[in-house]
Amino acid sequence: MANLLDQLAAMTVVVADTGDLDAIRQFTPRDATTNPSLILAAAQIPAYQELIDRSLRESRQAVGADAGADAVVREALDEICVTFGKEILKIVPGRVSTEVDARLSYDTDATIAKARKLIGLYNAAGISNDRVLIKVASTWEGICAAEQLEKEGIHCNLTLLFSFAQAVACAEAGITLISPFVGRILDWYKKSTGRDSYPGPEDPGVVSVTQIFNYFKTYGYKTEVMGASFRNTDEIIELAGCDLLTISPALLDQLRRTDGVLERKLNAFDPAPTEAQIHLDEPSFREMLSADQMATEKLDEGIRGFCKAIETLEAQLAHRLAELEGGAAFGHAVHEIFLLNDLDGDGCITREEWLGSDAVFAALDTDNDGRLAPEDVRGGLGAALALAQSA
Ligand code: E4P
Repeated sequence: MANLLDQLAAMTVVVADTGDLDAIRQFTPRDATTNPSLILAAAQIPAYQELIDRSLRESRQAVGADAGADAVVREALDEICVTFGKEILKIVPGRVSTEVDARLSYDTDATIAKARKLIGLYNAAGISNDRVLIKVASTWEGICAAEQLEKEGIHCNLTLLFSFAQAVACAEAGITLISPFVGRILDWYKKSTGRDSYPGPEDPGVVSVTQIFNYFKTYGYKTEVMGASFRNTDEIIELAGCDLLTISPALLDQLRRTDGVLERKLNAFDPAPTEAQIHLDEPSFREMLSADQMATEKLDEGIRGFCKAIETLEAQLAHRLAELEGGAAFGHAVHEIFLLNDLDGDGCITREEWLGSDAVFAALDTDNDGRLAPEDVRGGLGAALALAQSA
């Protein structure tokens, strides 16, 4: 008997929901999705430190030697998201989703500008638009931005989608793909009702995606539906047949280790009966969304959560940049000190050669051997920097 993952892959495009390159390699998905929290998580993996450092160095080059650390870090944030995307595209044959800075979620123009910048970075690396989905939060402003981007040939994945209103607005705007968040809908209902579980078919996240899928297929919308944010395999099993499902490595693994018969639940060619077609403009979208407490709260909370992940990553990048550039500056300073003081060029500075004060020589000569090796000078500069930073 085949495992559930293989059967799922025969009826739905399976997508890996992670920035962990090794995990993606294990499951050979067609596509992969990232978000700010996943990029932050991937950035903590020691094996990827070199990718982060490379992005920081390229960002420094891009903004120039005189730019402040803030500008380098801002640039590096985009570079890092695209760097992970490019690495992912070496593994998956399909598309990668890269998310626009969540802090721009209520700003249409800024979202468009950031999306163009991200796709420009991909294009500069020889990657065409059809291999990238730019992820944008499903606010009214985000949907308007994505509508414009789609007209420019930049394909979008509208994320943080919790309601029928958001889905309909995306479909009417001609968006390539939406990511309804199954698990976060379940989280909200569990918390608000006090229930600890729902059977798969009654799971409110599953019900929501099923409604959206049948509606899109009935009225012929081209927007692809990719269920996201899963909390358990039952949710995935109940959505078998959906266009795409993006699944964490842990749940992909569970599906792969489970044998059984997987039944198709959604059928694009034979959608279940659905409601009458509606059309939304900005007032009706806002009215429908605000009437949906779960979607309103989860959209707002989701944006705040992604903003927090970005700010945490920025703080880490600033720290790493200081280490990298501090290290380079030390190297330069140590070299200069040796040029001036190491008169016989033997790689050590004696007390006689030292042009500075005795007190400084003594402070640098921590092993008291009467000679300064490059490590002594470097160590002294490092101690001075640490003192300056803690002051
Ligand atoms: C993928 O596109 C989503 O960002 C992801 O599935 C969210 O999952 P979470 O709710 O577990 O954070």
